[in-house]
Amino acid sequence: MSRKYKHILFLTGAGISAESGLSTFRSENGLWNNHRVEDVATIDAYLRNPDYVHQFYNDMRPELLKAVPNPAHLAITELQNNHPAQIDVVTQNVDTLHEKAGNKNIYHIHGQINQIVCMNCGYVFETWSDINSEDKCEKCGITGMLKPNIVFFGENLLYMNKVDALLKSCDLFVSVGTSGVVYPAAGFVQIAKMFGADTIELNMEKTSNNLLFDRHIYGPAGTTLPALVKELLENK
Ligand code: OAD
Ligand code: ZN
Repeated sequence: MSRKYKHILFLTGAGISAESGLSTFRSENGLWNNHRVEDVATIDAYLRNPDYVHQFYNDMRPELLKAVPNPAHLAITELQNNHPAQIDVVTQNVDTLHEKAGNKNIYHIHGQINQIVCMNCGYVFETWSDINSEDKCEKCGITGMLKPNIVFFGENLLYMNKVDALLKSCDLFVSVGTSGVVYPAAGFVQIAKMFGADTIELNMEKTSNNLLFDRHIYGPAGTTLPALVKELLENK
């Protein structure tokens, strides 16, 4: 594990934002413990009751706007600024903490909370304001077709062609704070490994994806990721 890496790919999940005070999905008191996924994160739910779904994401926006990055996000910036490798960040998170920390090359495969997409014309725009079913698309003029630009269960992930290429070309794949149960992201490690990458998992605990990683670092990402970055910078 002391190769001189040329292409480092991070995959992040809710755990990287936990120390910024944001809830994960599957923990006790996590978002999916307090809500039924079928009610707020499926396209059927949205079509059935758009305002209920809008309310869920409207309520989330101010909290995510306020949140600040923690040492885990900042460690990625430090690595990107000081390591010669190409370094990309594929995130399942809809928060914008990677951006706030100054990370570059970020791919939000599950979308992001501050973007809205018009389901009629595909127009995407940024806002931190509330959206409801009476709102009109400023591009095509149609009312009631705006949807948070968040990938619901049953929808395709964003940037998949790009991510597929990154997985095949990286020589180090680092997963941070994801439970590894939501596909296709949970399968990324397998692709990276098959194409020759070293694989490291940073998590609080053992995950179901455990066996696919060459190395595990258990503990809070705000501590473990800066330590890994230090190690990578010593071996660059
Ligand atoms: P989960 O809530 O499923 O998993 C979070 C993981 O982070 C768990 O394995 C925790 O053990 C770990 N964790 C918690 N605190 C941590 C810390 N301080 N440091 C390191 N690890 C920590 O969240 P995700 O795997 O991100 O999709 O969930 C994947 C997707 O499921 C989400 O993107 C979301 C959800 O449905 C959409 O909203 C589209
Ligand atoms: Zn439109």
